[in-house]
Amino acid sequence: MYPDGSMSFQSGNLMFRDRQTRHFNNDLPVTLTIAPPRIEQLAERPDLLPVVATWIYQEWWTAVDGASVGTLTDLLRAHRVPDQMPLTLVATLKTLPVGTATLLVHDVGTEQWPQFSPWLAAVYVVPEYRYRGIGAALVNAIVAKATALGVVALYLQTVGSEKFYARLGWRVLRTAEEKILMSKPTAG
Ligand SMILES: CC(C)(COP(=O)(O)OP(=O)(O)OC[C@H]1O[C@@H](n2cnc3c(N)ncnc32)[C@H](O)[C@@H]1OP(=O)(O)O)[C@@H](O)C(=O)NCCC(=O)NCCS
Repeated sequence: MYPDGSMSFQSGNLMFRDRQTRHFNNDLPVTLTIAPPRIEQLAERPDLLPVVATWIYQEWWTAVDGASVGTLTDLLRAHRVPDQMPLTLVATLKTLPVGTATLLVHDVGTEQWPQFSPWLAAVYVVPEYRYRGIGAALVNAIVAKATALGVVALYLQTVGSEKFYARLGWRVLRTAEEKILMSKPTAG
């Protein structure tokens, strides 16, 4: 049990806190009660493909010439085979989709590191549902999937989120200008 009285519990190999205390506008602390997200493969939830494509497009692809939500929809169609790469996970709270993460053989923009594979990519949580452990649950679920697929180490590139990943056991391997390459051995 945590000092604020909240509990953590285990779902698969994911640790999740059921409550978090947050301070809004420097007011009194507010304790949120949080259900753990359900995490499924996009391959099992093709109905969520349009929303995941929209998130990824809006977060990373709007500046890419000629790209549209349709581009991402087409790319994600390759993620329709369960338990193989490329693989996308989607987190839902009750029936609401709230986040995603992807496992790729090679990520866009990692061409200078062809020796490293596979990659955690496109980790995204809907802004209103951040700071509840959903991002961490998605990252850990990708690591668990990769382990099950026989992967011994995973890689990611980030600009600015290295502390988030460091807390989850990822370590910096290389830096290239503002881009940071991180790695994590799996339990496999
Ligand atoms: C990064 C992201 C997935 C985190 O999702 P989340 O559900 O809020 O993550 P969690 O609740 O598991 O963890 C939040 C914790 O990580 C920290 N954190 C989140 N983003 C961070 C960042 N960029 N740098 C440092 N810490 C960060 C938060 O401060 C929080 O810490 P706290 O609980 O001690 O306050 C979410 O902020 C997001 O979708 N961002 C936009 C897309 C993005 O940048 N993805 C990462 C690409 S490499």
